[in-house]
Amino acid sequence: MATKTKPTGLEKLFEDQVADLYYAEKKLVSALKKMAGKATDKKLSAAFLAHREETQGQVQRLEEVFEILGKPAKGKKCDAIEGLLKEADGIMEEFQDDPALDAALVCAAQKVEHYEIGSYGCLVTYAEELGMKDAAKLLKETLKEEKGADEKLTKLAESSLNMAGEAHREKKASSPSGKPENLNKTKQSRTPSTVG
Ligand SMILES: [Fe+2]
Ligand SMILES: [Fe+2]
Repeated sequence: MATKTKPTGLEKLFEDQVADLYYAEKKLVSALKKMAGKATDKKLSAAFLAHREETQGQVQRLEEVFEILGKPAKGKKCDAIEGLLKEADGIMEEFQDDPALDAALVCAAQKVEHYEIGSYGCLVTYAEELGMKDAAKLLKETLKEEKGADEKLTKLAESSLNMAGEAHREKKASSPSGKPENLNKTKQSRTPSTVG
């Protein structure tokens, strides 16, 4: 068997990011199921489940990319997705039974989609630069799905925002001061980012 030299430069970066996304996508398969279970809007829940199915296909595409690279499919811990999903978990807990739960879920999911769009965008460019046409094609398919999921979420955000806005107005109308309560609380919950 021919021994392969260790990749460096762009090849190394490509392999590193493929492993990063492989880890991320596998985590997302279970996270999307959880989010679908929490969403109160049936359409939002269905959208999460539909994207979960797409995500399973995306995992398979990455396995094909590993095959093209001649490497076993192995993920590398993705700190970004760990952080985004930790935030999503926190939001699901904090907004349990809150009228803004769906809006919060859409926001958390869109942050994930934007991360994926950025990552797949880079991977497509790297694959093209490395002359890996088949890999580029596979990654482009996933990139298209991620963009589609993001657009779908933008549309669904409207109804979840309407619901949350309606609840906010009702609360404001029934509050004696005419002002919403808990404004200070929301401000306090913002913590500074530790990432540059
Ligand atoms: Fe994905
Ligand atoms: Fe996605």
